[in-house]
Amino acid sequence: MSEEEKLSYSEAIKKAYASVARFPLIPVRGIPLMSLIAQNWDSIWAFRPEPSDLLIATYPKAGTTWTQEIVDLLFHNGDAEACKRAPTPVRSPFLEIFSPPPIPSGLDLLKEMDPPRIIKTHLPFQLVPPGFWENKCKAIYVARNAKDNLVSYYHFDCMNMTQPDPGPWEGYIPKFMRGELAWGSWYDHVKGYWMEREKKNILYLFYEDMKENPRREVERIMRYLDLSVSDEVISRIVELTSFKNMKENPMANYSCIPAPVFDQSISPFMRKGEVGDWRNHFTPEQSKMFDEDYEKQMKEVNIPFRTLI
Ligand code: PPS
Repeated sequence: MSEEEKLSYSEAIKKAYASVARFPLIPVRGIPLMSLIAQNWDSIWAFRPEPSDLLIATYPKAGTTWTQEIVDLLFHNGDAEACKRAPTPVRSPFLEIFSPPPIPSGLDLLKEMDPPRIIKTHLPFQLVPPGFWENKCKAIYVARNAKDNLVSYYHFDCMNMTQPDPGPWEGYIPKFMRGELAWGSWYDHVKGYWMEREKKNILYLFYEDMKENPRREVERIMRYLDLSVSDEVISRIVELTSFKNMKENPMANYSCIPAPVFDQSISPFMRKGEVGDWRNHFTPEQSKMFDEDYEKQMKEVNIPFRTLI
């Protein structure tokens, strides 16, 4: 066993403190990605999943961790202890992430696991390694309305010391609108998966639907995964994956990535978990400007986003 493998995930992060930085973004086929991802792009693109692997794809901050927890619990018939075996990024690796050594990359972690693996990605559809579609892997996409997604991303960029400095709020909105943030344009991201959802059998979910009726959405995920769990287990999963419970769960709340990498004193990873928090951030002028641009960027599709429930 190598030195890296003996370290826990948090210990590996602590060892890498000195190399952690707000990494610059480098475009990969036009999509701005963290430099370490761009430098390792060939190995990410070459990743071959097993047919039983599941992909959970999102634009950052759309409900990834929540969905990872629901799926892990469904795979374990609602067994809370089993789903506390490791923190989220170890139980459900982040496909494209590369961090300074000795932090294991997503690919390193995946290599050590047996399928079916629950694989997280923020890659836009066109950058997902083609092996996923060749092997007919199932994929869940979670989309969140643009304004709440932007607000959540802003707070995350303030606290995640590996992401570019977000700068002031008023300058962050146009960066989001121009697709300059890490993983690129929200608009192209949600549209890319929307266009492919039927051809590729992608389950396309909305954060707002999950908030409105979590039970209905957990059941939807269960059916998509061809699983069958009892009503009681569904109720337990809904409870275990409430915002409050996940915020208190050290295996789901990203306390595994200690400060100074994720500085949760600046903004907690489990921040608010609400629909409509954008109203506390956008001025009426900012909202108007954003909506006008949104109409243009989204005109060719009719994706039923809701900014309030
Ligand atoms: S990441 O870093 O991209 O993986 O982040 P991601 O998990 O996609 O998104 C984080 C936001 O999701 C909220 N969250 C939840 N909301 C409701 N219920 C549950 N269980 C839940 N778990 C996470 C989290 O609070 C972030 O949203 P904001 O608006 O910032 O609170």
